[in-house]
Amino acid sequence: MVVYCVTGGTGFIAAYLVKTLLEKGHTVRTTVRDPEDVGKVGFLLEFNGAKERLKIMKADLRIEGSFDGVLQGVDGVFHVASPVLVPYDDNIQAKLLIMLRSIPVFQLNFLNFPT
Ligand SMILES: NC(=O)c1ccc[n+]([C@@H]2O[C@H](COP(=O)([O-])OP(=O)(O)OC[C@H]3O[C@@H](n4cnc5c(N)ncnc54)[C@H](OP(=O)(O)O)[C@@H]3O)[C@@H](O)[C@H]2O)c1
Repeated sequence: MVVYCVTGGTGFIAAYLVKTLLEKGHTVRTTVRDPEDVGKVGFLLEFNGAKERLKIMKADLRIEGSFDGVLQGVDGVFHVASPVLVPYDDNIQAKLLIMLRSIPVFQLNFLNFPT
């Protein structure tokens, strides 16, 4: 039995990883900061196979050693948990516009170049 860990299971990418791994028949451990928050983690338990093969565990990137137990004995880790370090701001759109206006025009043109 292959066991995978997906960090930050409630996240956009992590949730798809959890769903896909379960659909492929794997056993999955996923981390969240608050496993008791049913409103936030509940949808993970709706995935096919979740009741039998998904374990939701508590871990926080800001706490040293927090992931030690979670990672014990897993075969692979998808580390996609990502802290948002910018404080929440109702006025984020206005702030972004101010920031964009402060970028010189030649730099904005550069941003439009195809990669
Ligand atoms: N979405 C995209 O299109 C995209 C494209 C390219 C790259 N990426 C990269 O992929 C990564 C994940 O992106 P995403 O869009 O899936 O992000 P997301 O939806 O914001 O999910 C990130 C998850 O990280 C968890 N998290 C936040 N702070 C944490 C902490 N201190 N400790 C542990 N877990 C924490 C959160 O879960 P809890 O709140 O439940 O703990 C959250 O659900 C990011 O590094 C992003 O830059 C994303």
